[in-house]
Amino acid sequence: MTRDTLSFPLYDQLHIAVATIRTRIGERHPTVGLVLGSGLGSFADRLVAPMVLDYSEIPHFPISTVTGHAGRLVIGDMVSPAGRRVTCMAMQGRVHFYEGHDLRRVTLPIRTMILLGAKTLIITNAAGGVNPSLSPGELVIINDHINLFPEGPLRGDNDERLGSRFPDMTRAYNPELRALALRVGKGMGLALREGVYAGLPGPSYETPAEIRMLGIMGADLCGMSTVPEVIVANHQGARVLGISCVTNMAAGLTGAPLSHEEVTETANRVRKTFEGLVEKILWELASEATHDRR
Ligand code: HPA
Repeated sequence: MTRDTLSFPLYDQLHIAVATIRTRIGERHPTVGLVLGSGLGSFADRLVAPMVLDYSEIPHFPISTVTGHAGRLVIGDMVSPAGRRVTCMAMQGRVHFYEGHDLRRVTLPIRTMILLGAKTLIITNAAGGVNPSLSPGELVIINDHINLFPEGPLRGDNDERLGSRFPDMTRAYNPELRALALRVGKGMGLALREGVYAGLPGPSYETPAEIRMLGIMGADLCGMSTVPEVIVANHQGARVLGISCVTNMAAGLTGAPLSHEEVTETANRVRKTFEGLVEKILWELASEATHDRR
């Protein structure tokens, strides 16, 4: 099986991935796609009647080069206390640009989920806090982004079957979903705030001078994922909710060096809250879907 991005058109690769997954999941029709960022993978355990596909079983899916981060797609239902159901497709693990994949490959799973029917995406990540008023452990609803990757996922030929050549990004982070998330958070006693996420190539963390620049540019958060995913989701007409877990204050803000251990430690510390928030948002989406069917 070839894994060469350039060997044949993206649309054909997507259809092979979609067909493979359809064959496996039969009559289940996921309407929500989830990207579970660092430390949030265990959220998939909350899905009922899960079906699991290893990324290695899906043609053209990128495989993480980071050992111990085997990616899996989990298809399962979230059931609200009122008994309403929403079928979800969750990516346990994502690949990053810094691993060496080009952005078309990085974003292929997002496109696949949308083609399978996931018209709503909840994209989560671990982020550094650029805005000094943030604190580690805080959850932030992303309201906009700044793309600082050296390329975009739409560079190259555009396939009109997927989306338009010049997609609008004015409402890249869906305002209704943001309002819903803030409302759900309030109900949980969380004072959620919104912020702008700057997406950077990594894998080195930023320098203090770069963080000062990001602050002047208007960024509140920074990280090494999400932005390419949100661009293709908008290209393909899906609505996006983005949530960051502030795992650390960005470089230079505390004087302490940054470490991946701090990132995973904080992500683990707030995991239950983060998962609870996503769960309750899905309950709301489940009742929204019920209303739509009436
Ligand atoms: N910078 C970039 N990416 C990150 C950070 C950070 O400080 N924390 C978690 N992901």
